[in-house]
Amino acid sequence: MSHVRIHPSILSADFARLGEELAAVESADAAHIDVMDNHFVPNLTWGPAVVERLRQVSPVPFDVHLMIDDADRWAPRYAEIGCESVTFHAEAAIAPIKLARELRSQDARAGMALRPATPVEPYLDLLPELDLLLVMTVEPGFGGQSFLDVTLPKIRRAAEATRGSSAQVALQVDGGISESTIERAAEAGADVFVAGSSVYGAEDRAAAIGALRERARAACGLGAAR
Ligand code: DX5
Ligand code: ZN
Repeated sequence: MSHVRIHPSILSADFARLGEELAAVESADAAHIDVMDNHFVPNLTWGPAVVERLRQVSPVPFDVHLMIDDADRWAPRYAEIGCESVTFHAEAAIAPIKLARELRSQDARAGMALRPATPVEPYLDLLPELDLLLVMTVEPGFGGQSFLDVTLPKIRRAAEATRGSSAQVALQVDGGISESTIERAAEAGADVFVAGSSVYGAEDRAAAIGALRERARAACGLGAAR
């Protein structure tokens, strides 16, 4: 049985037509919403007011990826406005356990993200507090970058840990995921795939989502247990 999930990132969508762009990915498992503050990363997107309105018109759940400082203060706001999953960066949270518990108490799934150079080992004891672990496969900040193969061993180690954990923790990858890279990430053990430019850069978004799903499923079928 496959647990592959595809989350298109609206960072690569047409910002003048975000409602329609969300409707175009209704075959996806969720929409990935990148929140950037121009401090944690050198780019700026939207905040809670815009995300709240977009959630009201979206046919799919929201997977929010917060690339912001002071995550402890702002992350709960995204749960409050109806986002189903809220991911903060380990490097930006002062009290990640408290924050994850707060998100869960608001009925959101709690996610924690690691930049490419942040090791996973110091965080393994936190897995029972999390619903999702995000291993960044590019430096966060921009869409359209190339997948960093150097992150594959970390994905493998994270997959071993999430599988070994009694908690059900999804393993997400984000950055440079396309038809030519998704198999590598899936074979390494990821099961939730963010795809920005490879979905929104395609004429037919549903076909792009379907093709990514097929490739990831096939790759998972080759590996064991997932
Ligand atoms: C990058 C963002 C990603 C981005 C991915 O910092 O976190 O979600 O949208 O874009 P692609 O899939 O084009 O690499
Ligand atoms: Zn993202």
